[in-house]
Amino acid sequence: MVDRLVERGHAVTVLDNLDPQVHGGCAATPRHLEGHLRAGRIRFHLGDVTCAIELERALEDVTRVVHLAATVGVGQSMYQPSYYTLSNCHGTGVLLEALVPRRARLRRLVVASSMSLYGEGAFLCPRCGGTEPAPRSDERLARQRWEVPCARCGEDLAPAPTAESKAADLTSVYAATKKHQEDLCIAFGRAYGLPTLALRFFNVFGPRQSLSNPYTGVAAIFLGRLLAGQPPLVFEDGLQSRDFIDVRDVARAVVLSAESEQPGAQALNIGTGRPTSVLAVAELLARALGVTIAPERLGKFRAGDIRHCVCDPTRAQEVLGFSAEHTLAEGVGPLIEWCKGERPTDRVAEGLRELEAAGLVRG
Ligand SMILES: NC(=O)c1ccc[n+]([C@@H]2O[C@H](COP(=O)([O-])OP(=O)(O)OC[C@H]3O[C@@H](n4cnc5c(N)ncnc54)[C@H](O)[C@@H]3O)[C@@H](O)[C@H]2O)c1
Ligand SMILES: [Zn+2]
Repeated sequence: MVDRLVERGHAVTVLDNLDPQVHGGCAATPRHLEGHLRAGRIRFHLGDVTCAIELERALEDVTRVVHLAATVGVGQSMYQPSYYTLSNCHGTGVLLEALVPRRARLRRLVVASSMSLYGEGAFLCPRCGGTEPAPRSDERLARQRWEVPCARCGEDLAPAPTAESKAADLTSVYAATKKHQEDLCIAFGRAYGLPTLALRFFNVFGPRQSLSNPYTGVAAIFLGRLLAGQPPLVFEDGLQSRDFIDVRDVARAVVLSAESEQPGAQALNIGTGRPTSVLAVAELLARALGVTIAPERLGKFRAGDIRHCVCDPTRAQEVLGFSAEHTLAEGVGPLIEWCKGERPTDRVAEGLRELEAAGLVRG
């Protein structure tokens, strides 16, 4: 995003606390910002979004705010809810409060929301035409019946594109904090007449994604395993589907949103509209790396995990003129090239042990 903003001639100020779980305890600035800093194209503040004083400093002269700072990890949020609500909910509250005295010069607020707030995506029953899912009961999951049943007739439902109008169904603390961030920003934007967009990112992948965080980013997690000669660990049967969107597309969507002059406050899906199974991601990565390591299906399930969620990208197209340009197959090349130079530390087994210790993995 910063590369793109600088390229387009914007003056950029970055605030980040360089959370060690994400950045692996790096230096005082992230490496990929150093070029811009040397060239005097950006300002960087090492600071926490929950600290009003640091925010005040960073917000000087700012007219458009993109709020991406968040603690990210579905499973981890279930045993660290206070930390997640502190950085995500309280952090957003502190940010909004800092914006109040600056509202006259503010032109736009953009906040990163998440597809995770949908819980299960939208469905259509091939037998009765119903769209309501019944919950996946523990008893059903224990029999390894992974698909979501139709609430009306019990048939396995088929996934359908998930539009913004689908009601939220919060299945994790992380999802609840993302919904909260979105609601806070939209309510604030409406009250103050500050144009606001909450972008519901689907599954983002690409160079520079965190390789040290074992709780998030399935493509990076699988890649870390494969580079370490280990099989990717797949929950359930691996046929659960997601919508993988290239970080280049996401950066473009964020910049389009920040530059937009449209009034109003609303949420937009940012995804491709194309489903991919988790198993297919593991196989695609192995093929691209030229290794023959098959993924290991655990046949276990994680509390709060969903089966299918794929984006309906129509509204973002209408509002921003945005549609994703890159496919997953084409995006894994740049991800792998970057990853090879990074020596990821494989903390996946450690992350899995923590989830198991909290009783969040079953089956
Ligand atoms: N990656 C995805 O697939 C995805 C999907 C949906 C939504 N999102 C959202 O997009 C945003 C960016 O996610 P990401 O994948 O780049 O995650 P990330 O963890 O790589 O980036 C988050 C950044 O925020 C910083 N940060 C965390 N807590 C902070 C705090 N209290 N103060 C200041 N900085 C803080 C971290 O150091 C990190 O640089 C997040 O809001 C996330 O919830 C991501
Ligand atoms: Zn049915």
